[in-house]
Amino acid sequence: MRRLLKSGLKRLATRTDLPQNTAPEISSPQHPIGDKDALIIAVATQKGGVGKTTTSVSLASALARFHGLKVLLVDLDPQGHVVTALSQQVEPGGGRLSWVLTDEREGREVLEITTTTSIDGLDVTPVDPRLGNAEDLIGTRIGKEFILRDALEATRTHYDVIVLDCPPNLGNLTVNGLVACHTVLMPCDPSPLALNGVQMLLKTVGQIGARLNPDIDLLGILLTRVDGRNTTLNDAITEKINDTWNDALLPVQIGINSSLAKAQMSGIDIFDFDPTSRGAQQYEALADHVLELLSQA
Ligand SMILES: Nc1ncnc2c1ncn2[C@@H]1O[C@H](COP(=O)(O)OP(=O)(O)O)[C@@H](O)[C@H]1O
Ligand SMILES: [Mg+2]
Repeated sequence: MRRLLKSGLKRLATRTDLPQNTAPEISSPQHPIGDKDALIIAVATQKGGVGKTTTSVSLASALARFHGLKVLLVDLDPQGHVVTALSQQVEPGGGRLSWVLTDEREGREVLEITTTTSIDGLDVTPVDPRLGNAEDLIGTRIGKEFILRDALEATRTHYDVIVLDCPPNLGNLTVNGLVACHTVLMPCDPSPLALNGVQMLLKTVGQIGARLNPDIDLLGILLTRVDGRNTTLNDAITEKINDTWNDALLPVQIGINSSLAKAQMSGIDIFDFDPTSRGAQQYEALADHVLELLSQA
Protein backbone atom coordinates (compact mmCIF):
# COMPACT_ATOMS: atom_id res chain seq x y z
CA MET A 1 0.00 0.00 0.00
CA ARG A 2 2.63 2.49 1.01
CA ARG A 3 4.82 2.60 -2.00
CA LEU A 4 6.23 5.46 -4.00
CA LEU A 5 8.66 8.34 -4.28
CA LYS A 6 12.12 8.89 -5.47
CA SER A 7 12.76 12.66 -5.89
CA GLY A 8 16.24 14.00 -5.13
CA LEU A 9 17.37 17.22 -3.59
CA LYS A 10 18.29 19.19 -6.61
CA ARG A 11 18.38 22.69 -7.94
CA LEU A 12 15.47 25.05 -7.82
CA ALA A 13 14.69 26.81 -11.07
CA THR A 14 13.09 30.20 -11.65
CA ARG A 15 9.54 31.05 -10.73
CA THR A 16 7.28 33.70 -12.23
CA ASP A 17 5.92 36.26 -9.78
CA LEU A 18 2.72 37.92 -10.86
CA PRO A 19 0.87 41.03 -9.67
CA GLN A 20 -1.76 40.48 -6.96
CA ASN A 21 -4.97 41.95 -8.32
CA THR A 22 -5.22 41.18 -11.99
CA ALA A 23 -5.81 37.88 -13.72
CA PRO A 24 -2.82 37.92 -16.05
CA GLU A 25 -2.79 36.86 -19.66
CA ILE A 26 -0.08 34.34 -20.35
CA SER A 27 1.75 34.98 -23.56
CA SER A 28 2.96 31.42 -23.81
CA PRO A 29 1.85 28.20 -22.16
CA GLN A 30 5.53 27.28 -21.78
CA HIS A 31 6.80 27.25 -18.23
CA PRO A 32 10.36 26.67 -17.12
CA ILE A 33 10.97 23.03 -16.37
CA GLY A 34 13.07 22.30 -13.30
CA ASP A 35 14.98 19.16 -12.42
CA LYS A 36 12.93 17.96 -9.47
CA ASP A 37 10.14 15.41 -9.34
CA ALA A 38 7.87 16.34 -6.43
CA LEU A 39 6.03 13.87 -4.32
CA ILE A 40 2.50 15.22 -3.86
CA ILE A 41 0.82 14.60 -0.49
CA ALA A 42 -2.90 15.40 -0.06
CA VAL A 43 -3.89 16.10 3.54
CA ALA A 44 -7.58 15.32 3.54
CA THR A 45 -10.63 14.16 5.43
CA GLN A 46 -14.21 15.28 5.40
CA LYS A 47 -14.46 16.40 8.98
CA GLY A 48 -13.43 19.97 9.79
CA GLY A 49 -11.44 20.92 12.85
CA VAL A 50 -9.39 17.72 13.06
CA GLY A 51 -6.04 19.35 12.31
CA LYS A 52 -5.72 19.18 8.51
CA THR A 53 -4.36 22.70 8.20
CA THR A 54 -2.20 22.43 11.31
CA THR A 55 -0.77 19.19 9.91
CA SER A 56 -0.28 20.57 6.38
CA VAL A 57 1.49 23.71 7.62
CA SER A 58 3.63 21.96 10.24
CA LEU A 59 4.59 19.05 7.99
CA ALA A 60 5.46 21.34 5.07
CA SER A 61 7.47 23.60 7.34
CA ALA A 62 9.32 20.69 8.99
CA LEU A 63 10.23 19.16 5.63
CA ALA A 64 11.68 22.50 4.51
CA ARG A 65 13.37 23.43 7.80
CA PHE A 66 14.84 20.14 8.97
CA HIS A 67 15.34 18.26 5.72
CA GLY A 68 16.37 21.09 3.39
CA LEU A 69 13.62 20.20 0.95
CA LYS A 70 12.00 22.60 -1.47
CA VAL A 71 8.34 22.47 -0.48
CA LEU A 72 5.16 23.99 -1.89
CA LEU A 73 2.07 24.21 0.32
CA VAL A 74 -1.12 24.57 -1.73
CA ASP A 75 -4.22 25.83 0.07
CA LEU A 76 -7.21 24.16 -1.59
CA ASP A 77 -9.61 25.33 1.13
CA PRO A 78 -11.52 28.53 0.30
CA GLN A 79 -11.31 29.45 3.99
CA GLY A 80 -7.63 30.30 3.40
CA HIS A 81 -6.41 29.05 6.76
CA VAL A 82 -2.92 28.19 5.50
CA VAL A 83 -2.04 31.83 5.02
CA THR A 84 -3.83 32.78 8.25
CA ALA A 85 -1.60 30.27 10.03
CA LEU A 86 1.52 31.72 8.37
CA SER A 87 0.38 35.34 8.04
CA GLN A 88 3.57 36.74 9.63
CA GLN A 89 5.79 34.60 7.44
CA VAL A 90 4.20 34.75 3.98
CA GLU A 91 5.80 37.32 1.69
CA PRO A 92 3.54 39.56 -0.42
CA GLY A 93 3.11 38.57 -4.05
CA GLY A 94 1.77 35.69 -6.02
CA GLY A 95 -1.72 35.43 -7.43
CA ARG A 96 -4.88 33.42 -7.12
CA LEU A 97 -5.24 29.70 -7.47
CA SER A 98 -8.74 30.24 -8.90
CA TRP A 99 -7.18 32.00 -11.92
CA VAL A 100 -5.29 28.84 -12.69
CA LEU A 101 -8.11 26.39 -11.98
CA THR A 102 -10.85 28.20 -13.89
CA ASP A 103 -8.94 29.48 -16.93
CA GLU A 104 -10.06 27.50 -19.94
CA ARG A 105 -6.80 28.10 -21.78
CA GLU A 106 -4.43 25.18 -21.62
CA GLY A 107 -1.14 25.35 -19.83
CA ARG A 108 -1.85 27.41 -16.70
CA GLU A 109 0.44 26.36 -13.86
CA VAL A 110 0.27 26.74 -10.10
CA LEU A 111 3.84 28.07 -10.17
CA GLU A 112 2.48 31.27 -11.76
CA ILE A 113 0.75 32.26 -8.53
CA THR A 114 2.93 30.98 -5.68
CA THR A 115 4.68 33.21 -3.19
CA THR A 116 7.63 32.73 -0.86
CA THR A 117 7.78 32.64 2.93
CA SER A 118 10.44 33.58 5.46
CA ILE A 119 10.91 29.84 6.05
CA ASP A 120 13.79 28.77 3.85
CA GLY A 121 12.57 26.41 1.12
CA LEU A 122 8.84 26.86 1.75
CA ASP A 123 6.51 28.46 -0.83
CA VAL A 124 2.74 28.73 -0.55
CA THR A 125 -0.27 29.68 -2.62
CA PRO A 126 -1.72 32.99 -1.37
CA VAL A 127 -5.19 33.48 0.12
CA ASP A 128 -7.86 33.32 -2.57
CA PRO A 129 -11.35 34.48 -1.63
CA ARG A 130 -12.61 33.31 -5.04
CA LEU A 131 -11.67 29.70 -4.50
CA GLY A 132 -15.24 28.99 -3.32
CA ASN A 133 -16.63 30.16 -6.67
CA ALA A 134 -13.92 28.21 -8.44
CA GLU A 135 -15.26 25.06 -6.80
CA ASP A 136 -18.52 25.53 -8.75
CA LEU A 137 -16.88 26.73 -11.97
CA ILE A 138 -14.58 23.73 -12.04
CA GLY A 139 -17.68 21.54 -12.13
CA THR A 140 -18.57 22.92 -15.55
CA ARG A 141 -15.19 22.20 -17.14
CA ILE A 142 -14.40 19.19 -19.26
CA GLY A 143 -11.98 16.90 -17.46
CA LYS A 144 -12.86 18.72 -14.24
CA GLU A 145 -11.11 16.17 -11.98
CA PHE A 146 -7.75 16.62 -13.73
CA ILE A 147 -7.39 20.40 -13.65
CA LEU A 148 -5.05 20.59 -10.65
CA ARG A 149 -3.01 17.62 -11.76
CA ASP A 150 -2.40 19.30 -15.13
CA ALA A 151 -1.63 22.62 -13.43
CA LEU A 152 1.12 20.94 -11.39
CA GLU A 153 2.83 19.31 -14.35
CA ALA A 154 5.64 21.88 -14.68
CA THR A 155 5.25 23.18 -11.11
CA ARG A 156 6.19 19.84 -9.62
CA THR A 157 9.55 19.89 -11.38
CA HIS A 158 10.55 22.78 -9.08
CA TYR A 159 9.77 21.10 -5.76
CA ASP A 160 10.73 18.03 -3.76
CA VAL A 161 7.38 17.84 -2.00
CA ILE A 162 3.99 19.47 -2.60
CA VAL A 163 1.49 19.40 0.27
CA LEU A 164 -2.19 19.96 -0.59
CA ASP A 165 -4.35 21.20 2.31
CA CYS A 166 -7.84 20.03 1.29
CA PRO A 167 -11.21 21.50 2.33
CA PRO A 168 -13.44 19.57 4.75
CA ASN A 169 -15.70 18.05 2.09
CA LEU A 170 -15.51 15.79 -0.94
CA GLY A 171 -16.26 18.51 -3.49
CA ASN A 172 -14.45 19.33 -6.71
CA LEU A 173 -11.41 20.84 -5.01
CA THR A 174 -10.79 17.79 -2.81
CA VAL A 175 -11.36 15.44 -5.74
CA ASN A 176 -8.83 17.47 -7.75
CA GLY A 177 -6.40 17.14 -4.85
CA LEU A 178 -6.88 13.38 -4.68
CA VAL A 179 -6.44 12.99 -8.42
CA ALA A 180 -3.30 15.15 -8.40
CA CYS A 181 -1.62 13.47 -5.44
CA HIS A 182 0.57 10.42 -5.03
CA THR A 183 -0.42 9.73 -1.48
CA VAL A 184 -3.03 10.74 1.11
CA LEU A 185 -2.46 11.65 4.75
CA MET A 186 -5.66 11.56 6.80
CA PRO A 187 -5.72 13.44 10.10
CA CYS A 188 -8.32 12.06 12.49
CA ASP A 189 -9.09 13.16 16.02
CA PRO A 190 -10.15 10.48 18.50
CA SER A 191 -13.90 10.78 17.92
CA PRO A 192 -16.46 8.55 16.21
CA LEU A 193 -17.39 11.38 13.82
CA ALA A 194 -13.81 11.71 12.66
CA LEU A 195 -13.72 7.95 12.06
CA ASN A 196 -16.77 8.33 9.81
CA GLY A 197 -14.90 11.02 7.90
CA VAL A 198 -11.96 8.65 7.39
CA GLN A 199 -14.30 5.87 6.27
CA MET A 200 -16.00 8.05 3.66
CA LEU A 201 -12.72 9.44 2.42
CA LEU A 202 -11.25 5.95 2.06
CA LYS A 203 -14.26 4.96 -0.02
CA THR A 204 -13.69 7.98 -2.25
CA VAL A 205 -9.96 7.23 -2.46
CA GLY A 206 -10.87 3.69 -3.58
CA GLN A 207 -13.14 5.06 -6.31
CA ILE A 208 -10.54 7.56 -7.43
CA GLY A 209 -7.97 4.76 -7.50
CA ALA A 210 -10.27 2.64 -9.66
CA ARG A 211 -11.24 5.38 -12.09
CA LEU A 212 -9.02 8.43 -12.08
CA ASN A 213 -5.68 7.97 -10.30
CA PRO A 214 -4.65 4.31 -10.26
CA ASP A 215 -1.37 5.10 -8.48
CA ILE A 216 -2.95 6.82 -5.48
CA ASP A 217 -1.55 5.53 -2.22
CA LEU A 218 -2.38 5.83 1.46
CA LEU A 219 0.35 7.42 3.53
CA GLY A 220 -1.59 6.76 6.68
CA ILE A 221 -4.11 7.89 9.28
CA LEU A 222 -2.66 10.43 11.72
CA LEU A 223 -4.30 10.65 15.13
CA THR A 224 -4.42 14.33 16.08
CA ARG A 225 -5.58 16.32 19.10
CA VAL A 226 -5.07 13.28 21.28
CA ASP A 227 -5.90 13.96 24.92
CA GLY A 228 -3.48 11.74 26.81
CA ARG A 229 -5.78 11.69 29.87
CA ASN A 230 -8.61 10.05 27.94
CA THR A 231 -6.98 6.65 27.57
CA THR A 232 -10.21 4.65 27.32
CA LEU A 233 -11.45 6.61 24.29
CA ASN A 234 -7.99 6.71 22.69
CA ASP A 235 -7.59 2.95 23.06
CA ALA A 236 -11.07 2.29 21.64
CA ILE A 237 -10.44 4.50 18.59
CA THR A 238 -6.98 3.03 18.02
CA GLU A 239 -8.39 -0.50 18.21
CA LYS A 240 -11.19 0.37 15.82
CA ILE A 241 -8.76 1.87 13.28
CA ASN A 242 -6.39 -1.10 13.56
CA ASP A 243 -9.24 -3.61 13.20
CA THR A 244 -10.75 -1.83 10.23
CA TRP A 245 -7.74 -0.59 8.29
CA ASN A 246 -4.87 -2.84 9.33
CA ASP A 247 -1.58 -0.97 9.43
CA ALA A 248 -2.89 2.39 8.23
CA LEU A 249 -2.52 4.12 11.61
CA LEU A 250 0.76 6.00 11.83
CA PRO A 251 2.87 5.37 14.95
CA VAL A 252 3.43 9.11 15.40
CA GLN A 253 0.47 10.85 17.09
CA ILE A 254 -0.20 14.53 17.75
CA GLY A 255 -1.39 15.36 21.26
CA ILE A 256 -3.52 18.31 22.26
CA ASN A 257 -1.07 21.17 22.62
CA SER A 258 -2.20 24.75 23.12
CA SER A 259 1.01 26.05 21.49
CA LEU A 260 -0.27 24.71 18.16
CA ALA A 261 -3.48 26.75 18.45
CA LYS A 262 -1.60 29.81 19.68
CA ALA A 263 0.93 29.55 16.85
CA GLN A 264 -1.89 29.40 14.31
CA MET A 265 -3.53 32.47 15.87
CA SER A 266 -0.22 34.34 15.83
CA GLY A 267 0.42 33.57 12.17
CA ILE A 268 3.73 31.83 12.87
CA ASP A 269 4.58 28.18 12.34
CA ILE A 270 5.05 26.08 15.47
CA PHE A 271 8.82 25.77 14.96
CA ASP A 272 9.28 29.55 15.24
CA PHE A 273 6.51 30.06 17.77
CA ASP A 274 7.67 27.50 20.32
CA PRO A 275 10.30 25.04 19.07
CA THR A 276 10.44 23.26 22.42
CA SER A 277 6.69 22.58 22.57
CA ARG A 278 5.32 19.06 22.36
CA GLY A 279 3.48 20.05 19.17
CA ALA A 280 6.76 21.10 17.50
CA GLN A 281 8.49 17.89 18.55
CA GLN A 282 5.64 15.67 17.39
CA TYR A 283 5.31 17.37 14.01
CA GLU A 284 9.08 17.15 13.51
CA ALA A 285 8.80 13.42 14.30
CA LEU A 286 5.94 13.15 11.80
CA ALA A 287 8.09 14.71 9.05
CA ASP A 288 10.92 12.27 9.87
CA HIS A 289 8.51 9.35 9.78
CA VAL A 290 6.88 10.42 6.52
CA LEU A 291 10.28 10.67 4.82
CA GLU A 292 11.28 7.29 6.22
CA LEU A 293 8.09 5.69 4.88
CA LEU A 294 8.55 7.27 1.51
CA SER A 295 12.18 6.26 1.22
CA GLN A 296 11.15 2.62 1.76
CA ALA A 297 8.58 2.82 -0.99
N1 LIG B 1 -2.91 19.16 18.34
C1 LIG B 1 -3.63 20.25 18.58
N2 LIG B 1 -3.75 20.74 19.84
C2 LIG B 1 -4.48 21.82 20.10
N3 LIG B 1 -5.15 22.52 19.15
C3 LIG B 1 -5.08 22.10 17.88
C4 LIG B 1 -4.31 20.94 17.52
N4 LIG B 1 -4.43 20.75 16.19
C5 LIG B 1 -5.22 21.74 15.73
N5 LIG B 1 -5.61 22.55 16.73
C6 LIG B 1 -6.50 23.70 16.65
O1 LIG B 1 -7.78 23.20 16.29
C7 LIG B 1 -8.42 24.07 15.35
C8 LIG B 1 -8.71 23.28 14.07
O2 LIG B 1 -7.47 22.87 13.50
P1 LIG B 1 -7.22 22.94 11.93
O3 LIG B 1 -5.85 22.46 11.69
O4 LIG B 1 -7.55 24.30 11.40
O5 LIG B 1 -8.28 21.86 11.43
P2 LIG B 1 -8.92 21.58 9.98
O6 LIG B 1 -7.99 22.15 8.96
O7 LIG B 1 -9.06 20.10 9.91
O8 LIG B 1 -10.26 22.28 9.98
C9 LIG B 1 -7.47 25.24 15.15
O9 LIG B 1 -7.84 26.27 15.99
C10 LIG B 1 -6.12 24.67 15.56
O10 LIG B 1 -5.26 25.68 16.05
MG1 LIG C 1 -8.31 23.53 7.42
